[in-house]
Amino acid sequence: MLARLLLGVLMMAGAAASFAADLPTLPKAKGEACIEASATMRRDHPDMLRHQRDDTLRQGIRGAKASLKECVACHAAETTEGRAIPVNDPGQFCQSCHAYAAVKPDCFECHATTPKPVKEASR
Ligand code: HEC
Ligand code: HEC
Ligand code: HEC
Repeated sequence: MLARLLLGVLMMAGAAASFAADLPTLPKAKGEACIEASATMRRDHPDMLRHQRDDTLRQGIRGAKASLKECVACHAAETTEGRAIPVNDPGQFCQSCHAYAAVKPDCFECHATTPKPVKEASR
């Protein structure tokens, strides 16, 4: 599939980060690390996330379970005023790559594109 080929190209580009060309630049994520290594995430996140997969497929090498809510929690960028930007907005983490690869997951018709506001000590 063309999408698979593109995924391979994206992975190689990721390995040689300086090979800029016209590949998307991704907004920086929150947290120290992803649920799996970036290379694994680039390759396997569609299978890790899709509905109706059995648990073994929804887990990565280390057995981390993929949660779409958690992807969004770490990968939604913020405006300078601290408001979350939807992950599927143009140029945002999920969307920049998907636009490049011409994939249009329908997930966000139902799933939230920004983290749920969490109750926090006033700040
Ligand atoms: C028609 C509505 C709908 C669509 C479209 C949809 N989902 Fe879901 N999804 C749900 C519901 C309802 C749940 C169960 C409630 C929950 O756990 O948030 C769920 C749960 C999940 C979960 C487990 C809970 C979590 O947050 O991790 C994952 C993972 C998930 N969906 C991924 C996806 C992905 C990936 C897509 C797109 C390919 C997608 N969904 C499209 C309705 C939808
Ligand atoms: C605890 C926070 C956290 C969670 C949860 C998380 N990520 Fe990540 N993710 C990161 C960090 C940190 C990186 C490393 C790159 C960076 O610093 O921006 C990363 C990297 C990635 C990459 C590789 C990006 C690249 O440079 O090519 C992909 C793809 C990815 N994540 C997708 C996902 C998906 C899909 C989910 C949900 C299943 C998810 N992430 C959950 C924090 C997270
Ligand atoms: C490094 C580039 C990249 C990033 C970042 C990325 N994706 Fe993807 N994603 C792809 C590619 C390429 C495909 C198509 C792969 C295929 O179909 O085999 C894809 C496919 C998907 C699919 C399956 C679509 C379908 O219709 O079956 C889902 C779900 C998905 N991505 C969710 C996410 C989410 C959620 C994020 C943000 C947290 C994200 N992706 C970030 C490159 C990326």
